[in-house]
Amino acid sequence: MMNAFTLTPGSVNIRFGAGSVAQLPEVVAGLNKKKVFIVTDPGVAAAGVLAKVEAILASAGIETASYTDIKPNPTTTLIDAAAKVGVSFGADCIVALGGGSSLDSSKGIALVVANPTFSSAKFDYSITPDRPALPIIAIPTTSGTGSETNNWGVIDDPIRQCKFYVGDASTTPVAAILDPELTVGLPPRPTAGTGIDALTHAIESLTSKGRTPVSAAYAHEAIKLISKALPIAVKEGTNVDARGDMLMGAHLAGLALTLSGLGLVHGIAHSVSAHVGAAHGEALATVLPEVMEFNAREVSDIYATVGNDMGVSANSATAIEAVRELSDSINIRNSLSHYGVKQEMIGDIAKTVLADSVTSNNPIAPTEGEVQGILTSRL
Ligand SMILES: NC(=O)c1ccc[n+]([C@@H]2O[C@H](COP(=O)([O-])OP(=O)(O)OC[C@H]3O[C@@H](n4cnc5c(N)ncnc54)[C@H](O)[C@@H]3O)[C@@H](O)[C@H]2O)c1
Ligand SMILES: [Fe+2]
Repeated sequence: MMNAFTLTPGSVNIRFGAGSVAQLPEVVAGLNKKKVFIVTDPGVAAAGVLAKVEAILASAGIETASYTDIKPNPTTTLIDAAAKVGVSFGADCIVALGGGSSLDSSKGIALVVANPTFSSAKFDYSITPDRPALPIIAIPTTSGTGSETNNWGVIDDPIRQCKFYVGDASTTPVAAILDPELTVGLPPRPTAGTGIDALTHAIESLTSKGRTPVSAAYAHEAIKLISKALPIAVKEGTNVDARGDMLMGAHLAGLALTLSGLGLVHGIAHSVSAHVGAAHGEALATVLPEVMEFNAREVSDIYATVGNDMGVSANSATAIEAVRELSDSINIRNSLSHYGVKQEMIGDIAKTVLADSVTSNNPIAPTEGEVQGILTSRL
């Protein structure tokens, strides 16, 4: 029987299309804001994307300050430092420009600028902040995380020595601008890795215990778009049509996962990345087909629909093979030992997988031995 669920209608207000970033001043004016704090990282700045956004806002007479030091796996220390800059500028809204690292960080920064006596470590959903976060306009420049669709960011807390989810009801972006022209400079390897992240979001959302017909509708369309466009975007980075399909596919996959939750592929990838530092999408690609094989005894009917979405036959085994071939064709699937995983680490990695709340949404609850088996098969 279908899961019971409630749905709050509506999603993030989006503006999609090549050149749509030109609408940014209109979005800022619509919020009645005047001092825009742009949060981004050095790679996005080097690709010329930041300069483009700054010029668009300057030509509309909107005052900006830019923070360009966001790093992968952002920390509370980084967020608190960025927020100080935002406070001294007098920011009244945030433009989150970049991949998941910049978008996730912006959620913490938006809370701390509005509540400057606190550290971002405070805002882990356990308290209601005195003041809501500054409004966030999200402009993703990778097609992967779908972070523009939700109110949480994955942040490292060096004091508690753990990752936590920063956020609050007020940190859902008020608008997202999805402009594929801003993603053409992303090199092939991160294009492939972030693309597999988006594909995994859609596939895991379909089989998650939290799936609903609404999350499934988003996920199916995401798989159709991503499976066709990803090989083209990797080989021909300037193909704006393929980049547009990837950006929309990642967005839809984000909407899907936000409603449903994910599963064991993400549980394994989080643990592998925490142990050996593999990039998120690459860690996912390493085990995605193997976890599908493990789950197939419970959800082969759903995987058959994935085959259909990917344009191969509507059959579970064929769908899993198509996912494996897609990852191989974009050179993103390596062994775990390639990233430094050793046999003696498998036990610890498996324990962390089982402790991750994301694993609890997997259609089959794996035992520690089963997780070890999947990991060992990919050494
Ligand atoms: N909130 C969510 O829903 C959610 C979901 C999944 C993952 N995440 C988080 O997102 C983060 C990963 O995000 P990501 O995979 O997008 O990577 P990222 O933001 O770390 O960016 C990866 C690299 O790509 C570069 N880059 C980005 N856009 C570019 C462009 N257009 N041209 C050239 N270079 C560009 C960046 O400079 C960076 O070096 C992780 O911290 C992960 O935990 C969040
Ligand atoms: Fe992911």
